[in-house]
Amino acid sequence: MVSSKDMAPDTSGYVSSFIKNQFFTKLPTTPKDIDLSGQVAIVTGANGGLGLESARHMLTLGLSHLVIAVRSVERGRAVVSKLQTSNPSAKIDVWSLEMESYQSIQAFVQRCEKELARIDMVILNAGVAETEFSLTSTGHEKVIQVNYLSTVLLAILLLPILKAKSPVGVTPRITVVNSIMSTYAKFPNQNKRPLLASFDDTKVTAWDPAERYNVSKLLGQLFLSRLADCIKPEDVVINMVEPGLTKTGLFRNLRGIAGVILNLIKSFSAKTAEEASLTYIDAVAVKGKESHGSFIANCEIHPLATFTYHNPEAKAITTQLWEETLDEFSFADARGILQALSNSGLVGLVKTPVSRQRGGGAESSQLASPPRAGKHTAPLSSLPGSRPPFSSAHSVRSSLRLYRCEAFYLPRTSLGVWPSLGGSGVDAAGARSQSVSQSEKQVEKPVEESAGSAGSVETAETA
Ligand SMILES: NC(=O)c1ccc[n+]([C@@H]2O[C@H](COP(=O)([O-])OP(=O)(O)OC[C@H]3O[C@@H](n4cnc5c(N)ncnc54)[C@H](OP(=O)(O)O)[C@@H]3O)[C@@H](O)[C@H]2O)c1
Repeated sequence: MVSSKDMAPDTSGYVSSFIKNQFFTKLPTTPKDIDLSGQVAIVTGANGGLGLESARHMLTLGLSHLVIAVRSVERGRAVVSKLQTSNPSAKIDVWSLEMESYQSIQAFVQRCEKELARIDMVILNAGVAETEFSLTSTGHEKVIQVNYLSTVLLAILLLPILKAKSPVGVTPRITVVNSIMSTYAKFPNQNKRPLLASFDDTKVTAWDPAERYNVSKLLGQLFLSRLADCIKPEDVVINMVEPGLTKTGLFRNLRGIAGVILNLIKSFSAKTAEEASLTYIDAVAVKGKESHGSFIANCEIHPLATFTYHNPEAKAITTQLWEETLDEFSFADARGILQALSNSGLVGLVKTPVSRQRGGGAESSQLASPPRAGKHTAPLSSLPGSRPPFSSAHSVRSSLRLYRCEAFYLPRTSLGVWPSLGGSGVDAAGARSQSVSQSEKQVEKPVEESAGSAGSVETAETA
């Protein structure tokens, strides 16, 4: 099975890709043998849109315990009461998660660790598309914060918990909702240093709402495909999914002529959230280890954003992004978490944060990283009820084992030597492998927590 990064880039262009995806592609229905009974799933941003529909879909497949992670517990509770009526035997919880706050993310993860006996599937779906520039309490621009930074932080923090709690023979999965629009990011600030801070100042990077959404998804692809290189698919499968243009509230803030045009286009071309949720179920419950690190569109493994194939630029920028992002998450000991998981030493951690380096051909904008209110949070390991922190001896041992991930990263042919491309770029080998992945998902034992607790709605204000 060919993974996304070993495919040729998709050169089909926006219009032909859009027409093919929206009008000529019928999504496969979920295989009948997918049975989620006994399993536990988390869906972020599940009080509406695609998150809610995928949650509903998982419940119809027999899911035993669903945690919907929402920023408004009150609205989440209203949604849950409807889900509960149609699925009386499932345990459905509403937990607070504000993706603009690192503290909220840490508290959510801590709760997962403390209260969930196992976690089989996570769909990191919460996302925004904003028309106006704004900064969050972390000091970062909102779209980058929610769609990129907070999403990858949540993925990193959940990894060891998923691994530790998975029953023998079960491979847990994290599916991150991405977008085909990542391919259309122009990424004008790609050579600014530091890179992340360059999104936070409109004088450095001009505000363009569509570009910001697209690049937020591109950053996700760059980081997550590298993260997947550091994690064994036997421990946790990480993949990314594109749902296609869908009738949801995502672009609700788009006003004026652009809003009218988009609504018109959506009215005749967009999928319903129910239909598009098939893509989420495919990525999180049908696909298996063959999808690790890949981007899935129309339920098939698809090339990554075209930018990622531009060697060596993409490699250098990915390294910059990787190091700056891990620096950003030092308050949560993200490097330590990855070191501990990457027992084959694939994390490629560097001692001198790249974000503090200058030069090397990159444009040195001398941006000062502003103090981040949200950064002054505790490592998860120091929060009550969490595991002991990594010992320094352990860190030294792990560090000695480490060697740079770059040695493994993007070991692919340069753009110029790919054979004639044409078409969608979807390799025939991207075909689904349901039987393999289904067998991986065999459930060892039912969820103990569900017994006797069906129908409960639990709330937690953590932020
Ligand atoms: N719709 C499309 O055509 C399309 C296409 C490609 C990819 N996607 C992706 O699909 C995902 C779901 O979007 P959607 O189309 O279903 O849009 P949506 O209806 O607007 O849903 C977005 C969800 O994210 C939540 N969210 C936003 N900011 C949050 C924050 N700071 N903290 C916690 N939750 C937050 C929202 O909660 P509130 O209700 O509280 O705002 C909502 O539940 C997004 O990642 C989006 O980028 C959508």
